Amino acid sequence: MLVRVTSATPWGIEARPVEAQVDVSLGPPRFRIDGLPETAVRESRERVRHAIERSGYELPPRSVACHLTPADLPKQAPYFDLALALGLLSALGELPAEALRGRLVCGELGFDGSVRSVRGALALAELAVRQGMRELIVPAGGAGEAAALGQVAVIPVRSLSETIEHLAGRSPVAGAHATTAATEPLATGLDLSNVRGCEPAKRALEVAAAGGHHLLMIGPPGSGKTMLARRLAGILPPLGRLESIAVTKIQSLVAEHPPLGLISRRPFRSPHPGVSTAGLIGGGSIPRPGEVSLAHGGVLFLDELAEFRRDALEALKQPLEDGEVTVVRRRARIRFPARFALVAAMAPCPCRHLGDPRHECRCSPQLLARYRARLHRHLLERIDLHVEVPALTLQELKGPPGEPSAEVARRVLEARKIQRRRLGAECSAPTNANLSTAELERFCVLEEGARRLLDTAFERLKLSARAVSRILRVSRTVADLDGSESIRASHIAESIQYRSPDRRK
Ligand SMILES: Nc1ncnc2c1ncn2[C@@H]1O[C@H](COP(=O)(O)OP(=O)(O)OP(=O)(O)O)[C@@H](O)[C@H]1O
Ligand SMILES: [Mg+2]
Repeated sequence: MLVRVTSATPWGIEARPVEAQVDVSLGPPRFRIDGLPETAVRESRERVRHAIERSGYELPPRSVACHLTPADLPKQAPYFDLALALGLLSALGELPAEALRGRLVCGELGFDGSVRSVRGALALAELAVRQGMRELIVPAGGAGEAAALGQVAVIPVRSLSETIEHLAGRSPVAGAHATTAATEPLATGLDLSNVRGCEPAKRALEVAAAGGHHLLMIGPPGSGKTMLARRLAGILPPLGRLESIAVTKIQSLVAEHPPLGLISRRPFRSPHPGVSTAGLIGGGSIPRPGEVSLAHGGVLFLDELAEFRRDALEALKQPLEDGEVTVVRRRARIRFPARFALVAAMAPCPCRHLGDPRHECRCSPQLLARYRARLHRHLLERIDLHVEVPALTLQELKGPPGEPSAEVARRVLEARKIQRRRLGAECSAPTNANLSTAELERFCVLEEGARRLLDTAFERLKLSARAVSRILRVSRTVADLDGSESIRASHIAESIQYRSPDRRK
């Protein structure tokens, strides 16, 4: 008798349906599985066989043929163990086939019959909803994450025998509830009020958060660049539900322990300058998200920007442009979301003291030119805000605490609401940083004084057309923070300051 069980395999941050078909017939005893690579077949067979026997069932000497379809879809074998075992037991008459209908089943089996966690449970829940399933049966470890979707009953199982008892209706397992991760403690001690002085850099951080602009901080050691970057996530608006779902799905693929519910805190990633292109962008034989995707919805901090590998920085182009990364595997294209706030920091020169009144810079002009040339122009051009973070004076260091993050976050949220109203909620990234040329013309109405100032700057500073677009995008954000629909001269003046210090553009 042929039994069909619905299962799934991860595909990037999503899940794709896989049907496990199990047929048992009289004939020479054998156990065949089609649709998986050879080594995976051997391992799966062993896990399924041992788990069934250790759960108290006997495998009679029959011919067992299992099919995993679609055959050409690259699959991760452990996801189907539970489905194969249940299909086989059903084909042997231990479980009515009816019990498997309308249920999506995923889980790896241990030799002892236990069910082990699989990654990406939330994506499985989404698939179960799309497929119109009434129940999702997953390992208990990932059940909280899957239940966070709230649209399908999630049954957490710990062993094969517990699953059979549930399906046979003898001992139903209670549905899982999300132990909501909304209760995650916010990162403590990371408040902007702890950062003394640095007013221009703090302002740039606020503008970056408000308009979704990327930020480059340049300054000598110990001036507070890392401190500031770590506080950006705390002033960004809270994650929306869809963003939370995407962040949870990504983190679930790499986390050692599955998330307990939806992740509500924006991620902060700070990869080492030695990170490989694959580590930064994603890849591997089983494609895994890279740092840019782990930072999705949050902050990607590239400290010591000039020390990153050139090829890795080059590869940042796609995520910065498209907000996602495409990894190609076996002719298949897998997409990982990668929309993040980029904050980069670097010293002003190789000896790190250029412009520091208390230390002499010993770098030759050639050395300085080489240092700057290491950075790709395309990368610097995508960073709207360049700000210097000078060494702190004693007076600043002893000064009063700064404005708390909550205050800044309130202004940022207001500015974001204005942008959302202007650009429409259906826009995937309704921030000023993503304004197109047409939108710039439509939405950047300059007052007379602002127009004059920009014209003068264009001539005097020899600005390019690209530099003007950048100034307009940033001034739109500055005006939004000011609650002003038109752009005033003061907004343009502030934006002009955020130009690259090497004045190349
Ligand atoms: N503005 C500041 N207010 C209060 N403390 C500060 C400030 N700047 C630096 N510090 C102190 O100095 C330490 C180092 O600062 P931070 O790591 O942010 O410097 P940095 O600019 O990133 O330096 P580097 O270029 O060496 O990475 C902080 O942990 C903090 O104790
Ligand atoms: Mg630092």
